[in-house]
Amino acid sequence: MSMATEGTVGNDELATLKLLALDGALGGDIKISCANLAADLDASNQTASRRLQHLDDTGFLARETVADGQWVAVTDAGERALRAEYADYRRLFEEEMTVELDGTVTSGMGEGRHYISLPGYMAQFEERLGYEPFPGTLNVSLAAESTRARTALDAATPVKIDGWEDDERTYGPAFCYPATVLSGEAEYDRAHVIAPERTHHDEDKLEVIAPAKLREELGLDDEDSITVRIEVAP
Ligand code: CDP
Repeated sequence: MSMATEGTVGNDELATLKLLALDGALGGDIKISCANLAADLDASNQTASRRLQHLDDTGFLARETVADGQWVAVTDAGERALRAEYADYRRLFEEEMTVELDGTVTSGMGEGRHYISLPGYMAQFEERLGYEPFPGTLNVSLAAESTRARTALDAATPVKIDGWEDDERTYGPAFCYPATVLSGEAEYDRAHVIAPERTHHDEDKLEVIAPAKLREELGLDDEDSITVRIEVAP
């Protein structure tokens, strides 16, 4: 007697579910026979039948038996199980392409506005980023997991902003990483994460610049959750 509950199927059952989905059972009912499924799985009729029963028990598959076979459809729970697999594979193979960092919007001390507006930086932003940034930086306080994931940025190829000096002092170089800011359904893709250098201090904070005021563009307030997606060249 199976004691399985939703979400607890083995790899064999998941593989069977995937096969049925590939045959069309994700979009609606398809008609199958145990013999055909067994052949596709390279397994015995009994094994195929047991896997179908298990998928039915766990709520991943809806079944209706008829005289010459059965109609099956992947349920919402089944689709979630397949999507979880898909997410794993995406993470495996797309990790090198993009990094997604989650955090919340915070307010700083108004320093961003000052630095971004300095002519020695502004001229470079316009030339190298292709836009005049809104004067300020949107501060993001990163979640713990994203603070760790942030090191993946080391693999990215940032736009370099050179250091410069005026009569009074010198201003350090900065790195700008092309980024997309996501908030709910909305996204803004002309932003850059700006960091003094490849520094690992203040790792739990991100600062984002963009041609527009992101708080207005995306309707953001302090504490709102956002995701910053950074393209990392493979
Ligand atoms: O340091 P603080 O967070 O006070 O602000 P700032 O860097 O001087 O930027 C001024 C305001 O504009 C802040 O509320 C930022 O969060 C916001 N901002 C924005 O919404 N979009 C940008 N592209 C840059 C700043």
